[in-house]
Amino acid sequence: MRAVSFGSWLWLGLGLLFISSDFSVVFAKRFLRCELARKLLNQHGFERSLLSNWICLLEHESDLETGKITTNVNGSRNYGLFQINSRFCQEGRRGGICNVKCEDLLDENLTESATCAKRIQTSDGFRHWGGWQRYCRNTQNLPNLKVICGI
Ligand SMILES: *[C@@H]1O[C@H](CO)[C@@H](O)[C@H](O)[C@H]1NC(C)=O
Ligand SMILES: *[C@@H]1O[C@H](CO)[C@@H](O)[C@H](O)[C@H]1NC(C)=O
Repeated sequence: MRAVSFGSWLWLGLGLLFISSDFSVVFAKRFLRCELARKLLNQHGFERSLLSNWICLLEHESDLETGKITTNVNGSRNYGLFQINSRFCQEGRRGGICNVKCEDLLDENLTESATCAKRIQTSDGFRHWGGWQRYCRNTQNLPNLKVICGI
């Protein structure tokens, strides 16, 4: 009798654990490298020739995690897959240089974040991102997406 009820509690606990981990998946997502490369190319109009730079940058900035938030030394925050600084967005409502809500930059729907990131890259170049400067500036470090992903 005791053993049965202990077992039920255990299952209930595990069930809750799975439910709660599922909920976070609704809002944020960790992409796989080739999955993301294809998505940026086919759905968000990223240039094929720049794709390996983007993937390298994203792996070092966010580990391909859309929900990532980091706080900088000066108190500003970086949001999402592209680690976009809060001067480009506004917390709670649309605003900033990209006229976007910061929280929307954490979404697994990349429409807002990809548009803003492309805009930053067009004006500042990849050097805007510290992760790119440190790890991706040397083209020998870029992933060969043709070999790895067939794209
Ligand atoms: C704060 O630091 C971040 C990261 O270094 C930088 O991108 C941002 O421009 C800085 N913000 C201000 C207001 O100085
Ligand atoms: C993603 O978001 C954009 C605008 O924010 C919207 O137009 C689009 O339908 C969304 N895509 C999906 C698959 O939900």
